[in-house]
Amino acid sequence: MVDLTERVGLPVKLVRAEEGWQLEIGDGVLHEKPAVRLISDLKPVMKNPEANTPRWLYWMYRDVRLPEHEAQIAASGLRYDLTVFNPGVLCVDGNPKDGDEWNKAAGHYHPYARSGVTFPEVYEVVYGRGMFLLQFVEDVFSIPPKVNRFVILEVQAGDLLVLPPNCAHIAVVPNATEPMVTSNWVARAFDSQYSPIRLMKGAAYYIVKSGDSYAWERNPTYPEAPEPEVVKGCEWERRDLPKGIPAYKAFFEDPKAFEFLVRP
Ligand SMILES: [Fe+2]
Repeated sequence: MVDLTERVGLPVKLVRAEEGWQLEIGDGVLHEKPAVRLISDLKPVMKNPEANTPRWLYWMYRDVRLPEHEAQIAASGLRYDLTVFNPGVLCVDGNPKDGDEWNKAAGHYHPYARSGVTFPEVYEVVYGRGMFLLQFVEDVFSIPPKVNRFVILEVQAGDLLVLPPNCAHIAVVPNATEPMVTSNWVARAFDSQYSPIRLMKGAAYYIVKSGDSYAWERNPTYPEAPEPEVVKGCEWERRDLPKGIPAYKAFFEDPKAFEFLVRP
């Protein structure tokens, strides 16, 4: 068990269960019923759709909030979520090999706001380390998309990041033992767009096991793609969001700093 209360700014514990790592959220904290992504859900976006282990990939806890914050959060048009990504390799029958993908999220784009760009998102890494794949495209809905830029953002606990408009984002956990916990603030009034990634069998690159480390491999469904840029999370854009406090608390410290998420 790992107590994440200080890091999250809410009473939250990271606990190990049969279904992989999960969160134990303190009494009195409101949230939606947790949702899980199984490996069967990721079949359409995996390099090897035959991979069948591990079964439970990640748990999502949406709309986490304290009762006293409910009105202010609702009025802001934002939502705060927590996610736990299990470590490990997406492989056949529990036999990980080099070239198999590290555990990852399904990946999605956000839809367009009135201003003509897609909604951004704020992510915080609360525990562990991993990466966000950012795939910048000319048009979210064109198939195949024209990929302008592909960033492998290497992140670790303490990083607070703005995921800009017009990019797909996919979390990856490239290690065998340690889970990654993230929190995010995002506009609540839209549906994430999963099908443009699904139709392309994932992002333009797969992150695969290479010994204890990772390598990237082109997804051949994309006719072209730029070489990935590897960037450290601490060097990534974070606008003028409050520093040194958990993202949950940062919103109440400076709600105006988060308005760009609703009106990009
Ligand atoms: Fe998102």
